[in-house]
Amino acid sequence: MAAYLFEHDWDDERDRLDVLEQVFDPASRDCLGRVPLPPGGQCLEIGSGAGSIARWLCDRVGPTGRVVATDLDTGFLEALTESNLEVRRHDIVADDLETDAFDLIHARLVLEHIPQRDHVVRRLVRALRPGGWLVLEDFDWSSFVPAPGCTGGDLMATAVEALHLVFPAAGAATDFGRALPLDFRAVGLVEVGAEGRVHVGLGGTPVATWWRMTLAKLGPPMIGTGLMTGTDVDELLRACEDPGFCCLLPTLVTAWGRRPGP
Ligand SMILES: C[S@@+](CC[C@H](N)C(=O)[O-])C[C@H]1O[C@@H](n2cnc3c(N)ncnc32)[C@H](O)[C@@H]1O
Repeated sequence: MAAYLFEHDWDDERDRLDVLEQVFDPASRDCLGRVPLPPGGQCLEIGSGAGSIARWLCDRVGPTGRVVATDLDTGFLEALTESNLEVRRHDIVADDLETDAFDLIHARLVLEHIPQRDHVVRRLVRALRPGGWLVLEDFDWSSFVPAPGCTGGDLMATAVEALHLVFPAAGAATDFGRALPLDFRAVGLVEVGAEGRVHVGLGGTPVATWWRMTLAKLGPPMIGTGLMTGTDVDELLRACEDPGFCCLLPTLVTAWGRRPGP
């Protein structure tokens, strides 16, 4: 099974995913809303997390459509009751997957964590129906920087340095977002496009809270890099709630492309 840094059995992971949805769903819905879907569309939502996008897709395709929502751990999806939803415990790297089956395949903040991400992109193209759309959203962490002179700015700069060590050590990529559009062309998708959105993590807002919760989970491996102490991490966790804290978040790159066909 693929390595993953944010297991669902961490006590605060459900809360972290709820904040993630609150911050990032509007942009995802905006892009997904522009993808043409036939009546009764068949969708695959990979690494569904707490399931907000799977639920939204169920509404979008209506009762004659179908959404397959997968995750390594489907515990957070058990509360979903949509009649056109199939929840599937599934590892996108290794488990069986239909071919020529889906009108839309979407994954947000999943592939960047998977070491075999290039293999997964090729699998997803095969899983699309001819003419179907692939929409992947992943971070590009190059924009992740503190504002000059902000509270906790020096610690934040060190945390960013540590994160760029922790992610690759776990097989995760910090530059996958910007790679997506060319990867889509390389696997033969057409009508490829992409856009990136950056939130500003102003202390005490949900955006900064998402980073604080992510930092809380990444604290131990960051300390393991030798760049930060436990005291540093605690101080930065407090700074994220301070009105004087401000940083740019990683850029959420959304890329789309269509499998050639009717
Ligand atoms: C950062 S969370 C994002 C959740 C959701 N996509 C969202 O954006 O709200 C990544 C999710 O991908 C799942 N995941 C990680 N590796 C996976 C794999 N190999 N196959 C399927 N799901 C995976 C995790 O369990 C987690 O729920």
